[in-house]
Amino acid sequence: MRSKTFNWGILGAGKIAAKFVQDLSTVPGAVLYAVASRSIDKAEEFAEKHEIKVSYGSYLELVEDENIDIIYVATPHTFHFEHSILCLEHKKAVLCEKPFGINLGQVETMISMAKQKNVFLMEALWTQFLPHFLFVLDLTKSKKYGELLELKADFGFNAPFDPEKRIYNKELGGGSLMDVGIYPVFLSLSLLGNPENIVAEATIGSTGVDENCTIQLSYSNGVKAKLYSAINETTPTTATLSFEKASVIINGRFHEPSSVSIQTNGELETKEFPVTTHGYNFEAAHVQKMLEENRTESDSMTFEKSKQLISMLDRIRKEINLEY
Ligand SMILES: NC(=O)c1ccc[n+]([C@@H]2O[C@H](COP(=O)([O-])OP(=O)(O)OC[C@H]3O[C@@H](n4cnc5c(N)ncnc54)[C@H](OP(=O)(O)O)[C@@H]3O)[C@@H](O)[C@H]2O)c1
Repeated sequence: MRSKTFNWGILGAGKIAAKFVQDLSTVPGAVLYAVASRSIDKAEEFAEKHEIKVSYGSYLELVEDENIDIIYVATPHTFHFEHSILCLEHKKAVLCEKPFGINLGQVETMISMAKQKNVFLMEALWTQFLPHFLFVLDLTKSKKYGELLELKADFGFNAPFDPEKRIYNKELGGGSLMDVGIYPVFLSLSLLGNPENIVAEATIGSTGVDENCTIQLSYSNGVKAKLYSAINETTPTTATLSFEKASVIINGRFHEPSSVSIQTNGELETKEFPVTTHGYNFEAAHVQKMLEENRTESDSMTFEKSKQLISMLDRIRKEINLEY
């Protein structure tokens, strides 16, 4: 039986916040306590829809609320830094949406602030906590099918063109790499570590953001990862891991709860990982566990992993000449 409960605050009442709170309501011990929006009407509407106790018309009121244990930051990329810092300054634990910051400098400052304030901080890279992903990590680590020789992963979706909306808006950190390309890059980092060399090419659209991005990562042992992201095209969003003795496919969409197919000598076996939520409950439950253990850093989505991830994204952006 759980004894401890956690009062969650939601900062920013956008699309992902709505999905996240649906899953949060399934997590034992999680209390949907408060939501803050820049508009009180929007906050109240969100609170009513998701049965959240308190609504605020400013982010400041949320971080000042003494009853809140943890704040989920769900604003556009370019605000993750400012809003996480705001929470940390008020000694509030933070689960911040991906990408953690817009560059390594921001991420390092956020981490320093969390350490200085002795407060929990984690990037909401939810894939890290999904059962099928953990299965693939174990399978790779155990070398059950030998060495991993090549990785291919894509994530493309067709977002209707709107220069104002965050996906195409450069001021909000738009573009495919930071929004969805982060998942293939995260997968490569998780399976293969830091690459020796990165080659990338992008199609930069009229708003100045990458509408698609092709990336090749090379590792010192000769292994290659071939990655692709797009916001103007729907792609299978699968990951194929070619091992010496098998081909392992994380079926689409690989970054969210999915199944894994293993092909060996002409035989195909598919392993299902049934989940009844979107899958955000796994990261939320992990955060609560960390808080219960009085940790200020996740033992799974570590500061080091977030720093390595943003460093890879920085290196790729340098290759495609994309600066925010
Ligand atoms: N983990 C995942 O699966 C996943 C999926 C989608 C998105 N995300 C991440 O979540 C973040 C938000 O994405 P989203 O799709 O939810 O975006 P969204 O629908 O546009 O929502 C973002 C929210 O941020 C707030 N905001 C604060 N300042 C803003 C500004 N200047 N312009 C626009 N919005 C502003 C707004 O909330 P108020 O108006 O209520 O203040 C807005 O509703 C992104 O960083 C994205 O990478 C993660």
